[in-house]
Amino acid sequence: MTAATNELKPVLVFDSGIGGLTVLREARVLMPERGFIYIADDAGFPYGNWEEPALRERIVDLFAKLLAQYDPEVCIIACNTAFTLAGADLRAAFPQMTFVGTVPAIKPAAERTRSGLVSVLATPGTVKRAYTRDLIQSFATQCHVRLVGSQNLARLAEAYIRGDVVDDEAVLTEVEQCFVEMDGRKTDIVVLACTHYPFMANIFRRLAPWPVDWLDPAEAIARRARSLVPQVADAVHPDNFDFAVFTSGAPDFPTRRLMQGFGLKA
Ligand code: DGL
Repeated sequence: MTAATNELKPVLVFDSGIGGLTVLREARVLMPERGFIYIADDAGFPYGNWEEPALRERIVDLFAKLLAQYDPEVCIIACNTAFTLAGADLRAAFPQMTFVGTVPAIKPAAERTRSGLVSVLATPGTVKRAYTRDLIQSFATQCHVRLVGSQNLARLAEAYIRGDVVDDEAVLTEVEQCFVEMDGRKTDIVVLACTHYPFMANIFRRLAPWPVDWLDPAEAIARRARSLVPQVADAVHPDNFDFAVFTSGAPDFPTRRLMQGFGLKA
């Protein structure tokens, strides 16, 4: 442990929108002494449909500014779509910074499945990434993995989190392809490979044709970040610190209210 100080560097949590709050929620529990800065690149949302080179460039350029401005202890990339694309670029561009990534939880799903049928629910971007294919090759060749790229769920999740009513049919259309029956076996794990989706897990459970495990990696990501952030004896959380930044510069009222609910000024 290093010496106590009230000037610890903050933890930066990044997503294209408000999905990263599912990770921030867990990270704060494990790092109560740290201030948090939540960055939503809402001007670029949704990331799922971007062409890869343009999105990669956008994310690296944005981090050049964020790191200069906020000088965080660690950056949690709470976005599968961003990290599976630009994680390696970020580490190469900013070697002095620690990046904790979010990638589809294919390895734990492959370890846990009993039926051998696993589905990965993600954005179209994450589904087509070489990174995702490599995870399957490395850890899940013994399983049948169905990749389901959803066009609309991230948007639906944003609307739902802000308090709008979302149509069951619209949600079911996006998730039903996750449910596979084959040779008398059924999918038993669905990996939530977009940080927006855990907010809708209660709806998914209600609409599911049969019960499955909906795997949310948020806690594991938070634990990984904790292991990389130095513990500081007697440190206390800075007063009145945590805040959110939106790249649009103009989050609407329901979004600001949501941020307040998460203890973030916006
Ligand atoms: N929350 C992001 C993820 O984990 C994606 C949402 C988007 O399409 O921008 O992949």
